[in-house]
Amino acid sequence: MNRRMLIAGNWKMNVMNSDGLALAKGLADKIKTVEDTLFEMLVCPPYTLISSVIDVSLNTNLSVGAQNCHTLKQGPHTGDISAAMLKDLGCSYVIVGHSDRRSMHGETDFDILCKANMAIDADLKTIICVGETEDERNTENTLKVVKNQILGSVPDNATAKNTVVAYEPVWAIGSGRTPTIEEVQKVHSAIRSLLAQKLGEDTADGIRLLYGGSMNAKNAKEFLSLPDVDGGLVGGASLKVDEFWAIGQSCS
Ligand code: PGA
Repeated sequence: MNRRMLIAGNWKMNVMNSDGLALAKGLADKIKTVEDTLFEMLVCPPYTLISSVIDVSLNTNLSVGAQNCHTLKQGPHTGDISAAMLKDLGCSYVIVGHSDRRSMHGETDFDILCKANMAIDADLKTIICVGETEDERNTENTLKVVKNQILGSVPDNATAKNTVVAYEPVWAIGSGRTPTIEEVQKVHSAIRSLLAQKLGEDTADGIRLLYGGSMNAKNAKEFLSLPDVDGGLVGGASLKVDEFWAIGQSCS
């Protein structure tokens, strides 16, 4: 199966207006220089910047997404944003279940399932994040934890078109530490098998699996050359044009 690589930047709660526009413009300019890229490049800015980044991305191949959405479509939820609103704004993707949301906002697998369902209903592509904590890794529970997260948060109607899964070991996020490439391949291959059991072989074969956690321009190529790694979810290294672009260039 030929899965098109996805290099996704998660800006988190970083970047003010002028820096965000400069970053998006820098990437849009680079993308324009390559005709048919081997990879899809996505940026997920904070809500405040989505609209202006979408303006910058028009007529380029730069995709724009959000970092979260609500479990419901609309209603009395002060301060929240629904998947339908993100679609209305022009987003094409939304990240759900990032470990920041799971740990700091107490999001459960069921919350994430509801968000992914809302995203799919709104015709957004959803990037569902899973990954073990350091304690879970040290007690050799990685596969068990990831299995429960996949079974609990991936919708039954997930397809290769509407769903991406990101494996992000919590201890690797922002720490400069990463699992070995063997460990990453083992978890990704287990995720693909679980998706095959749940959704069928063909669907699982088409779903892109991203690795995330301290990916940078130096280590990207190793991860991206693994058979079951179809891209990256990148935090810190997505905030610099040259570094993020270099990660994209590592897809080959
Ligand atoms: P990092 O973040 O690349 O800074 O480790 C990844 C993420 O949280 O998605």
